[in-house]
Amino acid sequence: MRKILPPRRAHSFSIRHEKWMNRRLWVITRRTMNILAIETSCDETAIALIEARGSFPESFSCTVLGNSLLSQAQMHAEFGGVFPNVAKREHQHALVPVLQETLRQAKLLDTPADTPENVISELESALEREPELFLNLAQFLRSIGKPPIDAIAVTHGPGLEPALWVGINFAKALAYAWHVPLIPVNHMEGHIVLSAMNHDRAARFDMPLVSLLISGGHTELVLSHSWLEYRLLGQTRDDAVGEAFDKVARLMGLPYPGGPQISKLAAAARAEGHESSAFGALPRPMMTTPDYDFSFSGIKTAVRRMVERLQPLTDEHKRHIALEFENAVAEVLIHKTLKAIEEFEAATIIVGGGVSANEHIRTQLARSIKDYGYQTKLLIPPPDLATDNALMIALAGYFRAEMKQFADPKDIVARGNLALA
Ligand code: KG4
Ligand code: ZN
Repeated sequence: MRKILPPRRAHSFSIRHEKWMNRRLWVITRRTMNILAIETSCDETAIALIEARGSFPESFSCTVLGNSLLSQAQMHAEFGGVFPNVAKREHQHALVPVLQETLRQAKLLDTPADTPENVISELESALEREPELFLNLAQFLRSIGKPPIDAIAVTHGPGLEPALWVGINFAKALAYAWHVPLIPVNHMEGHIVLSAMNHDRAARFDMPLVSLLISGGHTELVLSHSWLEYRLLGQTRDDAVGEAFDKVARLMGLPYPGGPQISKLAAAARAEGHESSAFGALPRPMMTTPDYDFSFSGIKTAVRRMVERLQPLTDEHKRHIALEFENAVAEVLIHKTLKAIEEFEAATIIVGGGVSANEHIRTQLARSIKDYGYQTKLLIPPPDLATDNALMIALAGYFRAEMKQFADPKDIVARGNLALA
């Protein structure tokens, strides 16, 4: 028989949560901290669980207990890009299965269920915009108890707001059910901290640090004089570099996401002995401007014209266009990064974001730093962790938790344009 529940007070969720939050802040004094992290800023539903200890950099180390991800890329491939409302719907489907998979990896699926029925029913208001997610979560909480976690980190921006909200609301619901505090995390900081790791420890590096952040939504050069402090040097004035890869791929009839496709074609052209395109050059926009800004929409327009001129497009055309496009983008990114190394006497360069998986950009940047005789240390994530994942959010969450940057759930909102600095 269905239990008859007392009427819910409008704000009972956040009021009770606050009380629990205050009681639970002691976790930061413990020696190890288990952080569950949730990432839904774009088209990957990702959840990770880490056990972290020590302070960055000397004594920090971490064990990844679980790290899983469900990509919506195939679904978005049909449309040639990510549609926020499709992403939102898919995150709703995926969050509970991805959480289950993460806990399965961590061998934590056998905890007996312990969430009181009245708490589960209160979650309905927290997830009123995600009714399907509520049903999945209610079923999950009736079958599994609270795992040993001390805090939940969640991406609150930048990204697609409808997609961010699903992860945020899910994190709030879990934090309420399991009585743990929340840590809002900046997605771009996640990319930076992941690049600053060397396996399960912090990489050794000196300041100043220049970070080149290249992803589907961002192209930025950021300067840091100390850990987790940022000054924006410059950014794209139009398309992000990953977006340009995706759009150029689409112009050539290649599926989303375009970065890996273009990269493969360009590598094939190089393997045939080509260094540049036999079918015309592309511009290097803003390469020599005296700032740290970028612009990639001009290259995309030039590719469109090239594609129109070359119709019908053959596989050979595609390989050459990909080669020329990848060369153009790499030259611009590397030129401005070297300029920043020079001006700010950077001791370390971090490259982060999905486009840092690009083999040509990785090798060319390393070669240029060496050729110019800079002593700068280059930190790049392993290619499989360059694109979005929740491990990076868990790491950033831990470092923010160390700084006691827990947030009241009602203050955590999706911020599509959240900046680092
Ligand atoms: O960081 P990320 O996973 O998501 C955002 O935060 O945007 O970056 C995704 C972007 C996509 O535009 C994708 O095409 C690009 O990274 N990307 C690549 C490569 N792998 C992924 N771009 C160039 N070469 C690659 N190998
Ligand atoms: Zn990203």
